[in-house]
Amino acid sequence: MTKRNNYFGFCHLDLTNMTFFVCSNCGYGSASWMGKCPDCGKWNTLVEKPEFAKTSSSKATKKIKITKLKTVASSYKIRFKTGIFEIDRVIGGGFIPGEVVLLTGEPGVGKSTLILQSLQNIPSLYISGEESAEQVKVRADRLKINLDNFYFSNDTQVEGIIAGLENLSEEIKIVVIDSIQTIFSKDIEGPIAGISQLKEVANKLISFAKKNKITVILIGHITKVGEIAGPKTLEHLVDCVLNFEGEKISQYRLLRASKNRFGSTDEIGIFEMSGGGLKEVTNPLVFLEQKNQYEPGKAIVGVTEGKRPLFFEIQTLVSSTVFAVPRRVVKGLDYNKTLLLIAVVKKYLYLPLDSYDIYVNVIGGVSIKSTSSDLGFIASLLSSFKNIPLPKSSLFIGEVGLLGEVRASYFEDKIVSEGKRLGFKKIFSSLNVKNIKDLKILLR
Ligand code: TYD
Ligand code: MG
Repeated sequence: MTKRNNYFGFCHLDLTNMTFFVCSNCGYGSASWMGKCPDCGKWNTLVEKPEFAKTSSSKATKKIKITKLKTVASSYKIRFKTGIFEIDRVIGGGFIPGEVVLLTGEPGVGKSTLILQSLQNIPSLYISGEESAEQVKVRADRLKINLDNFYFSNDTQVEGIIAGLENLSEEIKIVVIDSIQTIFSKDIEGPIAGISQLKEVANKLISFAKKNKITVILIGHITKVGEIAGPKTLEHLVDCVLNFEGEKISQYRLLRASKNRFGSTDEIGIFEMSGGGLKEVTNPLVFLEQKNQYEPGKAIVGVTEGKRPLFFEIQTLVSSTVFAVPRRVVKGLDYNKTLLLIAVVKKYLYLPLDSYDIYVNVIGGVSIKSTSSDLGFIASLLSSFKNIPLPKSSLFIGEVGLLGEVRASYFEDKIVSEGKRLGFKKIFSSLNVKNIKDLKILLR
């Protein structure tokens, strides 16, 4: 019943008998029907839910249960090592029983290959809604994967998966779901891969993982545009989020943890996609194609990803614009940080950058997250603007602030000594460049 208060023009909603509308895609609730869901933007997805009142108006009190933490048995000391150092490093030493991992990446980046290669030493069940048993077998044979402890299923109903797993005679330590967008729950009416379905499926698998101490790896496709809907909505539910990145045109792939309840989020794993699957890369200079050739616009930067020094080539092209608003195209660096650095250069080095388009690229199809690349980006920008190459064997390390000051990076000493060891002769860092104005002498 809706009781109106006529004096003040608002109404008191008595929810006990009210009809409610719920978006079948994302679960958004509304008291009135709408053609377009204001939350996920899908059309015609709001459906009537008369039973809303029953579930939401439960007044029963449930007493909390408390446990003395000291007496809780911990299974977190056990880790299932994949045997692939680059993966074990990123996840913090191996998968933990009961841990739920979300592995995201663009379609075709190599997620299924990575998982297949990493589980060959651990008894695992691979549930694929995308490929048949034969397809997976052919790929595993091509990758020469030991299949002694590897089980497969094509089933995609989450309740069926869990019921099957609870009565399984085989010993399974890890369950892989490839991909979560192909699995559905019978209890939800929304479309497969819709947010309601994804959340329900993930929640059921998480409870299963915690109860049975089985590691669950959920594979999720994300697209470049960074779809808000989809696997990103599951990030807060899982224990670990791994992102597998790389351009299809490049053979290099980076594995990063953006969330890790049982390890650090700094470490990265580097792989090379070859005809025989993913190979680990340990060479810190792997991303430098032409180490000794210096053209205008090219700078080599040293950064640390985790505790590991790595070297990247940044290329910048500054060219006069024909547009009213100059173009800024950035690949491999943070877009907003790059715009900020361009503004800093414009202000403190008095360059008329508003009349120029600026294109920035990091070689190798990878992206740099570390801020130590700031100084190198500015050096490449100046080099392109002046059309003068930077000195041979030069290396740039340093974060740049809003005042143009150069700040020390994490583990700067370590990058400097690794840079020296690898043959860089002129190293520019916060030790010898205090402000970006000091870079001007390079280009006179
Ligand atoms: P895949 O693991 O299927 O990607 P995802 O699961 O992320 O969609 O990998 C797909 C790409 O990897 C495919 O384009 C071919 C390439 N690939 C190789 O180059 N070498 C290999 O040994 C394998 C298995 C795949
Ligand atoms: Mg796949």
